[in-house]
Amino acid sequence: EEMKKRGGQVVLSLQMGDDLIEGEYYMIKKRTTPTDSTEIKLAVQIIAIKEVSDRKLEQHRMDATREPPEKRLRFDRELSQDETKSNVSAASQAESRSESQPKSIESSKEPSDKSQTPSSDKVHKLYYVHYYGYDRRLDEWIERDRFIERCADPAIANPFASKMDKKDGAKTRAQTRIHVEFHHLQVDSHQDATTARLEKEHEERTKVRNIESVVMNGYEMNTWYFSPYPYKDTEHTALFVCDFCLVYTDCETEMKLHRSVCQYFEPPGDEIYRDGPNLAMYEVIGKHNKTYCQALCLLSKLFLDHKTLYFDVDTFIFYILCEVTSSGARVMGHFSKEITSDNNLACIMILPPYQRKGYGKLLIQISYELSRREGWVGTPEKPLSDLGKVSYRSYWWWRILEYLDDERVILEDAPCAALAAVTGIETEDIKHTMLAMNMCTIHRDDLNQGQECIVRLSRAAIIQCKVMGIAKPPFLMLKKENLKWMPRNARGPPLPDPLDDAPNRVRIAIPPHMKRPNGAAKEGGENEPPPTVKRKRTAEQ
Ligand code: ACO
Ligand code: ZN
Repeated sequence: EEMKKRGGQVVLSLQMGDDLIEGEYYMIKKRTTPTDSTEIKLAVQIIAIKEVSDRKLEQHRMDATREPPEKRLRFDRELSQDETKSNVSAASQAESRSESQPKSIESSKEPSDKSQTPSSDKVHKLYYVHYYGYDRRLDEWIERDRFIERCADPAIANPFASKMDKKDGAKTRAQTRIHVEFHHLQVDSHQDATTARLEKEHEERTKVRNIESVVMNGYEMNTWYFSPYPYKDTEHTALFVCDFCLVYTDCETEMKLHRSVCQYFEPPGDEIYRDGPNLAMYEVIGKHNKTYCQALCLLSKLFLDHKTLYFDVDTFIFYILCEVTSSGARVMGHFSKEITSDNNLACIMILPPYQRKGYGKLLIQISYELSRREGWVGTPEKPLSDLGKVSYRSYWWWRILEYLDDERVILEDAPCAALAAVTGIETEDIKHTMLAMNMCTIHRDDLNQGQECIVRLSRAAIIQCKVMGIAKPPFLMLKKENLKWMPRNARGPPLPDPLDDAPNRVRIAIPPHMKRPNGAAKEGGENEPPPTVKRKRTAEQ
């Protein structure tokens, strides 16, 4: 409606004095990286508008040009070690203190009012924008001069974006499914009006990031999403988190004081995995370490968009991956697991400075190994985030191909369930993995009145997958013998690991009892010749 039609032309241009409207779409210019001058045009939606003083604007400009986003600052590792020495002496002084559990220190302080009075009368506007079709972690505050014009159709403007931001009415059923999956929406046709209202309110409250950065482990990390830390306004740009007990505050001096008395140097649980001198994993029981686990969830939520934050941590166990140095074991990431659930993993998160180094897939391997020892096949809690999906897909492909890429394996079309049985991955996960490579066909199963999903296996297809590099072995391979962990409540005897290769075991892809009754059409069996360029298409189809 804002756009005036003149002579059949939609007027999109913006004049100097034009007000920008919350909720509307605009084209903006964006540098490809903060320090690169190359600019591209992208469609954004304005999510919120705020007024800031000169000083805040200056701060905003400095932050916007910083690169890289996760950088070491304020204290380096050497300093941290000195700090630990002082911790040790402070710890002995503090021995008489009765409190042994870490406490959040936010309750003991009033929010600082230093930032509340603008340093000059001049007020500037900042706009919180969401890049149409891109993940919310890219949302940011930008200035007015970045806006070029109004945007008539963001889907055309951002052609490479996923279709998830399209308005519902314009979506096909497949697009709706993708929207629901990527936006992590619960589809509940019976949702009552109150629940819907509460969800809408929640969405409103969490759509703007409340913490800009978190200082921890010697890094300052830009945060990705809202997390319900008890700070009411968005003035708390930086949050300081204790490396060891995860206590948080928005005041740097307060954190320094805390660090001088903190008695922790590792997570409050048992070390269950060790790889070399620098890598360890701890098991922390939510019920026994509530404050620590709640602080971990709050921290984790800064990098997780789609998961509910569990303040009720009693029913969860946390597996915490640490970088070990002479000063202690610092959290790099974790996964959580609900004790009574059929999911072997609820949430997984690696802090940004440690991402893309193989830690994510190591955690995934451990989650499967734990449920295997407990006697059941697990699966991660859905929906998965975009990064969760890439990590799991990569892990699943590696497991599947590692099993199938063996001369002794008989390769022929098989139901997904058969492949699940021999790889230790849940049937639905196999199905989605195979569908992504078009190696799966879905048939009507008249006998069982449902659908049957057939994986099309052939030696050529397997070779092709390997050539395409989709089956990369994990960079950090789990050393099972180093995982000192016994199940507390096993659901059955440990399952065999399909990749453990006892010398006399003959691998077959499909257990005979799971073969299709009518005998699946054999498309490219084990004697298939090696793929030629022509055949390439077969595998990619
Ligand atoms: N872009 C593209 N690919 C990526 C990216 C990225 N930003 N990050 C990881 N990957 C790929 C890697 O290339 C690797 O694939 P490859 O081995 O085939 O090359 C695979 O994902 C795993 O990489 P890792 O280094 O093992 O994973 P990482 O340590 O980065 O952790 C994780 C992955 C945990 C998902 C991390 O990105 C994260 O914490 N993200 C934020 C929280 C999140 O989204 N968690 C998942 C939610 S779903 C759930 O909890 C059930
Ligand atoms: Zn501490």
